[in-house]
Amino acid sequence: MSNYHIKHLEEYYQVYRKSVREPENFWEEVAEEHFLWRKKWDKVLSWDFSKPEIKWFEGAKLNITENCIDRHLATRGDKTAILFEPNNPEESAEHITYKQLYERVNKMANVLKDQGIKKGDRVCIYVPMIPELAIAVLACARIGAIHSVVFAGFSSTALSTRINDSDCKMVITADGSFRGNKTIDLKGIVDEALESCSGIESVLVVKRIDSDINMKEGRDTWLQPLLDKASTECPAEIMDAEDPLFILYTSGSTGQPKGMVHTTAGYMVYTAYSFKNAFQYRENDVYWCTADIGWITGHSYIIYGPLANGATSVLFEGVPHYPDFGRFWDIIDKHQVNQFYTAPTAIRALAKQGSELVDKYDLSSIKVLGSVGEPINEEAWHWYNDIVGKNKSPIIDTWWQTETGAIMITPIPFVTPTKPTYATLPFIGVQPALINDAGEELKGNQVEGKLCIKFPWPSMARTIWRNHKRYKETYFSTYKDMYFTGDGALRDEVGYYRITGRVDDVIIVSGHNLGTAPIEDAVNEHPAVAESAIVGFPHEIKGTALYGYVTLKETGEGRIHDNVRKEINQLITDRIGPIAKLDKIQFTQGLPKTRSGKIMRRILRKIAEKDTSNLGDTSTLLNPECVQNIIDEAL
Ligand code: PRX
Repeated sequence: MSNYHIKHLEEYYQVYRKSVREPENFWEEVAEEHFLWRKKWDKVLSWDFSKPEIKWFEGAKLNITENCIDRHLATRGDKTAILFEPNNPEESAEHITYKQLYERVNKMANVLKDQGIKKGDRVCIYVPMIPELAIAVLACARIGAIHSVVFAGFSSTALSTRINDSDCKMVITADGSFRGNKTIDLKGIVDEALESCSGIESVLVVKRIDSDINMKEGRDTWLQPLLDKASTECPAEIMDAEDPLFILYTSGSTGQPKGMVHTTAGYMVYTAYSFKNAFQYRENDVYWCTADIGWITGHSYIIYGPLANGATSVLFEGVPHYPDFGRFWDIIDKHQVNQFYTAPTAIRALAKQGSELVDKYDLSSIKVLGSVGEPINEEAWHWYNDIVGKNKSPIIDTWWQTETGAIMITPIPFVTPTKPTYATLPFIGVQPALINDAGEELKGNQVEGKLCIKFPWPSMARTIWRNHKRYKETYFSTYKDMYFTGDGALRDEVGYYRITGRVDDVIIVSGHNLGTAPIEDAVNEHPAVAESAIVGFPHEIKGTALYGYVTLKETGEGRIHDNVRKEINQLITDRIGPIAKLDKIQFTQGLPKTRSGKIMRRILRKIAEKDTSNLGDTSTLLNPECVQNIIDEAL
């Protein structure tokens, strides 16, 4: 029996049990059977969560691009690897075969080498959703450079913070990007960011929108002429299993973004295995994940997981509402997509448009529907299931994180019976635990607690870039010998998991992780602001949106307030990006505080949720009188 493709529930339990009882044997068999190694490992796993130190396939040598590209050439050379669908539906789609991908990645890898990039160097990739983004990622992996992709919707400040944190030597970017009927001046953002990044030696620029941009002499170079001259052969750098593959930043509840470090072999094995099983991908299926490669979902399930399986992966440049809200359905119809993976926020926005637009297109190719990034509410689940999936395509509600590298809790389609709003069962090899407030593991079913993982899995992040202490504190210090996810969850009567949401100060807005502290820092930069507190509140489309309570140094009203509101959101856009803008800003006389001066966010959250019936005991506050004022003036 091959461990690779799970076909029925009994088999799931059987494979799952094996993966838990004999994890080393299990993952060794998967690794042996399905990947290309330059040298096999000396040891499958060594781990110690108290340090924490985790190593998978120690001693093994490989290059992930040989697994994602080279080894497919003999049998799938002419098969489409990346199917690029441009923003403009009039522009034709581009089918990049495995052979072409091989050539383009090697050319790019040679350009990087010519520019002085070596194994272990960090390269920042700030490129929109065009083939060059995936090619740049793979080219870094080809030569052992560590890629740090920054979502091309982040502001110049967010970009420079990330570039400096990981000491990148190079930025790969584009002149600009298309988003619906707008263009974005990416190069201008990069120029601004680089004013405070002294470590950047070169900038390679992809021509996408053909805009008139500034090229800095000695630093900036157009990419295409370099590619034209480069060779299509670039030998793969042979990497150790635990060599870093990439850094990807994620928000924390406090401080700077965390540069999660993923390493090579374990990440490859687990993303490939999970891709094949979680999506039940079959040869010749067309798979589409709508995420941006700037997020972990795009890394693992547009690039590495699908390509390691020799799949056809759609890469879409545009947005769901351009030229109209039927675009996703149009693309599914046009390319006969078989697996479709998107986020609840998109599903809610599309559901709002009704079913007519969906019905205009032939969606009969769809076999599996996926959801990721935030809890999917019941209404959205049913719309997705009934209207898009026509009740025949199972929804996999996949729970995971930047830190986990790949899917952790999910139904396996056609194997695990689904249940609305439940991510259902742990994926193979994943050992979740629910922990109560006393720090004890809750055994049995029908329990609710903090979600932890008890045992290492191959694709877990190994550290935070140059901040192992923070890695330990954030994930391994809350509960002894466990990885703490920051999420709450419940386990129902049959052992299915439902994720209930974050239990820390991270807020998930439209599926994007946002820490409250950096947003508050941006708000507090406004000269009129004395202090602020940001909380989440339920939002029809975004799932959760941001509510800011702001105390001004001097009270103002009317027009002054309107101006300050605009300026605050502009500051947030400049410091972080438009995704972190506040939907509501309430000006307050003061914020409720504990006697030690800590803002009581719990109370502010309830007021923002319009649930003021049970605010708990407020008499112990330093300033209980402000609560009623805030309630009276709530938006
Ligand atoms: O709170 C969980 C939520 O998204 C967080 C991870 O965000 P990020 O690192 O940006 O990765 C998102 C894509 C993998 C989690 O801690 N989350 C993600 N998927 C789900 C979810 N919450 C509920 N259900 C999900 N399926």
